[in-house]
Amino acid sequence: MDRIKLSNSLDDLLRQSGTPDATRQADHPDQTLSLLRDNTPLSTAQLALARQIGEEMTAVVAGRNEYIRKHRIDARFAKPDANWSHDAPQNEFLRLFQRVAKSAEGDIARLRGFTQPFSGYNLFEVDDGTYLSAADIEFGTDFDTDLARRLAARNAPQIEHHKHLVAGLPPEVVFRPPAMLGEIGHVVDGVLVNHDTNAYQERINILHKSGVLGQIQDKIATAGEVKICEIGGGYGALCHWFKQMFPKASYTIIDLPESLLFSRLYVSLTHPDMATTCGLAASRFGVRFVPNFMAEQLDDSFDLIINTLSMSEMTEYQVRKYVHLMSTKWLKEDAVFFEQNHDVRKVGLLFAQEILASEFEYHLPLYPPDADYEKGFPYRHGFPSLWSLNPLDLPSLASPTPPAP
Ligand SMILES: C[S@@+](CC[C@H](N)C(=O)[O-])C[C@H]1O[C@@H](n2cnc3c(N)ncnc32)[C@H](O)[C@@H]1O
Repeated sequence: MDRIKLSNSLDDLLRQSGTPDATRQADHPDQTLSLLRDNTPLSTAQLALARQIGEEMTAVVAGRNEYIRKHRIDARFAKPDANWSHDAPQNEFLRLFQRVAKSAEGDIARLRGFTQPFSGYNLFEVDDGTYLSAADIEFGTDFDTDLARRLAARNAPQIEHHKHLVAGLPPEVVFRPPAMLGEIGHVVDGVLVNHDTNAYQERINILHKSGVLGQIQDKIATAGEVKICEIGGGYGALCHWFKQMFPKASYTIIDLPESLLFSRLYVSLTHPDMATTCGLAASRFGVRFVPNFMAEQLDDSFDLIINTLSMSEMTEYQVRKYVHLMSTKWLKEDAVFFEQNHDVRKVGLLFAQEILASEFEYHLPLYPPDADYEKGFPYRHGFPSLWSLNPLDLPSLASPTPPAP
């Protein structure tokens, strides 16, 4: 792979600047490896669906400027900006979009090797993505051998971290990425473990321990449906988990259309029987993918809105606009906004919490008030918080402090 400096991996920039994260360790021979050859192959129908999604998302990206002009959309909000600006140097996500949108069978079958801009991790290098590009990757015949070697050399810290993350958790709250679409790692108690498994497990743990998941379960029991919206859904991992855990959730992802290509492929191919739509039309008990430039026209309200590692990569203008949309129409009265973002002011971006604090009346930080990010902060992927327009009413509020890692 090319070793170039990328602009999309803030997790990695922060790691370089001192944020604690996994270090490399020696082999872990007692664990089973799951490689590309162990992936469930895609059917002809799934490959046809992937081609259709590639064509549709290419058309959505191509039609963006015309849509913005025709509907008089606020371009400062609607165009990719800040860390996702098309003008950002060596913007990896655009190169990956162009490659994956072609829907070559081998690339779709290894989609997870192309999702580095979202989690900041290069799955096939088994390494952080700061100096890596996946856009030019070629799959030789010995690829699995190389993967096995890298996993054996570098994945041990993830195994240890996974065991810590899932200790004492109810089994249904464990994130289990399916062995398909290029997912690789060690199999630990039946779970395919790599850096990204742990990244999403961390978010699920916080949602679980703060009582948000319990609240969702209660709402489904009383209302028969829960509506969840994720702003900036990355490659769709959290959505995948939510839809497995809560089939009665109607899930909306709002994201740049270039990124929706990845989440739509991932979610559609891992849930072949689930309804998905692209655009503003609702998808009851399914997943709706809304291009961000249509967000202002989205007239719906949600029980839970999520944003992780994403507002910190937007402009302040975009964040304030999203907050305005949440407070004026998207957040139901008893809804919460779960947000977990880094403080990335030191790399020229922003700390979403600063802006959110001036816009939301109620804020519940889900980390100890004296936690020091440089020394032993309990979470690796930002400062988690709940925000609300009304007093928060969650069962766990008496003890919001998370357990130490
Ligand atoms: C670093 S990724 C994080 C993805 C995922 N939330 C996670 O935690 O892994 C940032 C996400 O924010 C999205 N994003 C960037 N600008 C956006 C905007 N203006 N509106 C919505 N999403 C945006 C990106 O496309 C990407 O999906």
